[in-house]
Amino acid sequence: MKDDYITFTENVHSKTGINLSLYKETQMKRRLTSLRDKRGFRTFFHYYKAAEENEGLLEELMNKITINVSEFYRNRQRFDVLEKKVIPHLLEKRGRLRIWSAACSTGEEPYTLAMILSRLAPSDRLEIIGTDIDPQALAHAREGLYHERSLKEVSVEGKQAHFTKEGSFYRIDDDIRKRVKFKEHNLLADEFPSRCDLIVCRNVMIYFTDEAKQELYRNLNRALVDDGILFVGSTEQIFSPEHYNFKVFDTFFYQKISLTPLML
Ligand SMILES: C[S@@+](CC[C@H](N)C(=O)[O-])C[C@H]1O[C@@H](n2cnc3c(N)ncnc32)[C@H](O)[C@@H]1O
Repeated sequence: MKDDYITFTENVHSKTGINLSLYKETQMKRRLTSLRDKRGFRTFFHYYKAAEENEGLLEELMNKITINVSEFYRNRQRFDVLEKKVIPHLLEKRGRLRIWSAACSTGEEPYTLAMILSRLAPSDRLEIIGTDIDPQALAHAREGLYHERSLKEVSVEGKQAHFTKEGSFYRIDDDIRKRVKFKEHNLLADEFPSRCDLIVCRNVMIYFTDEAKQELYRNLNRALVDDGILFVGSTEQIFSPEHYNFKVFDTFFYQKISLTPLML
């Protein structure tokens, strides 16, 4: 008889498009077992049957799988490097920037990019795309309403410039909200955007198996223009970046190695 968890992952795959066999198993299984137990089911078979018929349970399960935690300026120092070094470098070379925030969760990351870029370039020189596998997270992102805990790294001036306070929540202002286009996208299954100057893909690769990660690096590399930059999370350093046609630009920033030398 097939393993209870394996059958469950196959059912989840056909129901939601999320292939759990590409996520680190021990970690994911532990998370899902604890949720299943909390809901009073002794097997994944019974838990899945119940989730199929109960939208609330399915939604909770999706939330557990996708792990939507995010915040503005997550790892602030890295965003300072982005603002002072990476973006000026890219702007110097190109008239327009196409930026992709991949696995952007509830939108804090692409909005952080939009706030930074609003100081550095006019909006007609920018395109910012935010994608995630989770439609609920994207709905939250489009709404643009955040609890103050996700703004702990935003300066007082930043809050004043880009948010309107609503009780203990902050609403992102329209001029920033309109700079980001959100779209559903599965990093392990869908076609990637092309010709990106900057890809921000942070705090999602840690959940993937090594094989899935390697394939992802290759696809991210292909999605960049020559010399384009990939920005990863602070626990997601790429070992042997040259293996994937990247070189280190700064800590946690990788630049695509251009294969065709520029004609001067
Ligand atoms: C911890 S959040 C990271 C959010 C943001 N990038 C940050 O660093 O704050 C991880 C996000 O990855 C998304 N995710 C998980 N698997 C994915 C996949 N296969 N394709 C795209 N997004 C995925 C989840 O839905 C979740 O919103």
